[in-house]
Amino acid sequence: MSDRPSGQTTEPTPETTPAAPAVSGPSVLGRALRWYALALFPAALVLAALAALGRLAAADALLAVLAAAAVTALLALAPLVDLSRLLRFVQELAQGAAPPTPEMRTHGVAAAAAFALSQMRREMRRALAASDRSARSMEDVFDALPDAVVMLDADHRVVRANMAARGLFGRSLTGRDVSGLVRHPPILEAIDQIEGGGRELEFSLPIPVERRFIVSIRPLPGDLAGNAAILISFHDITTIRRMEQMRADFVANASHELRTPLSSLIGFIDTLRGPAHDDAEARERFLGIMAEQAARMARLIEDLLSLSRIELNEHTQPSHAVDVRRVIASVIEGLEQKAAARNVTLAIAAPESLPAVRGEPDELTQVFQNLIENAVKYTLPDTEVTVSIAALERGPVNMPKEAQGPVVAVAVRDRGEGIAQEHIPRLTERFYRVDSARSRKMGGTGLGLAIVKHVMSRHRGVLTIDSSLGLGSVFTAYLPAAAAATAGTDAPPQRIGRPA
Ligand SMILES: Nc1ncnc2c1ncn2[C@@H]1O[C@H](COP(=O)(O)OP(=O)(O)O)[C@@H](O)[C@H]1O
Ligand SMILES: [Mg+2]
Repeated sequence: MSDRPSGQTTEPTPETTPAAPAVSGPSVLGRALRWYALALFPAALVLAALAALGRLAAADALLAVLAAAAVTALLALAPLVDLSRLLRFVQELAQGAAPPTPEMRTHGVAAAAAFALSQMRREMRRALAASDRSARSMEDVFDALPDAVVMLDADHRVVRANMAARGLFGRSLTGRDVSGLVRHPPILEAIDQIEGGGRELEFSLPIPVERRFIVSIRPLPGDLAGNAAILISFHDITTIRRMEQMRADFVANASHELRTPLSSLIGFIDTLRGPAHDDAEARERFLGIMAEQAARMARLIEDLLSLSRIELNEHTQPSHAVDVRRVIASVIEGLEQKAAARNVTLAIAAPESLPAVRGEPDELTQVFQNLIENAVKYTLPDTEVTVSIAALERGPVNMPKEAQGPVVAVAVRDRGEGIAQEHIPRLTERFYRVDSARSRKMGGTGLGLAIVKHVMSRHRGVLTIDSSLGLGSVFTAYLPAAAAATAGTDAPPQRIGRPA
């Protein structure tokens, strides 16, 4: 495995390839002629010696030399020319040129060698292309890493940065000094002291939205591409930190919500035991308040337990077919008295036939109980709360993927004061209330909409909230219809995240 850029793995560097001697000397023909002369020389020497000794007439000797020359030329010239061409081919190859495979006049050793050489060249080209591809795919993997990764040289300048790093710090990073990217002194210090070994530290980037990272600074083994010497990776832990904060806030909020009625109970118990011991009238009044506070604690604990139960099952979509109209009718019946106390009319509008939804009847009861009860609590006195049910071809765009088919939409409309836009995205957070004192006075736990959100998520549904100040609010629950939901989704895919 190598993470060098393609240029480095595939091209031989000047140091690894010794310089080839330049092609020089006589031309192909000249060299062939030289070898030819050399081949003829022994015969010519012998014939000349014989002529000199008088054993052969000079004319005969000359004739014999000419005959030998003719025969040698006939036999040797073609192989010699081939050899010479082969030599030139090899020399040009060694120089890194790309000469064409020489044409050979014979089928001898030179031709075989030229053929083998050009095959070798083809193999080498193939190997180079493969290593080039592998380097490119390493580059792609480097870019696909979810963490931002930056490599520095010994002078702390960026030699490589992956896509996530470019997204975090800007496009042109190569060549920049690391202090231009991160100004956090402990990180720069860790880079300065890299000889002492790697370090890991937490770091936050405030712009454009605050993000927290675990930054790991490690020395790299020597002799890497571009002289990369230090590796810095940024692992985003914003979500983890936010979850930790939410958990801490939740515990603090739940304790606070429980402590308030508890202190009140303890206070009244003390009063009843002490100063109000013999005051029958006060005792009656206090016991009434105490019962209310105890009921509030019970409601809170009930809601907390509901919430944790629903969260536990959130990844399994319920599979009963539920008639929402019937569920809503029974919820409305239970709320009639509360509505009548504020002179609020509860109306239900639904078509004749409605598809069933895929769900858990008890949990859906909780959803509509919370939504309709909120509407009754927050609508103005003497108004109407309307629950409209409709079957739709599909839900809003943010429906989960597995619930893209037909849905049943239940819209709960009140004529209250409405909710300011800035509160709307936060209403489904646990204990989030627009007006805490008012919510508590009306017996609210601040957990109702959080429960609704989790139930909707378990049902692969979506809750939308529309509100205009002075006009009222509409809370709409979109639930996947049973027929579509059951088709092919007997084992629903597990979901870890939740729809908004
Ligand atoms: N129909 C509504 N009209 C105005 N505000 C609402 C409505 N429903 C919910 N809210 C606001 O959302 C907050 C959270 O609702 P919920 O989770 O049901 O808590 P609770 O009803 O116990 O206060 C409420 O405290 C209230 O401020
Ligand atoms: Mg509520």
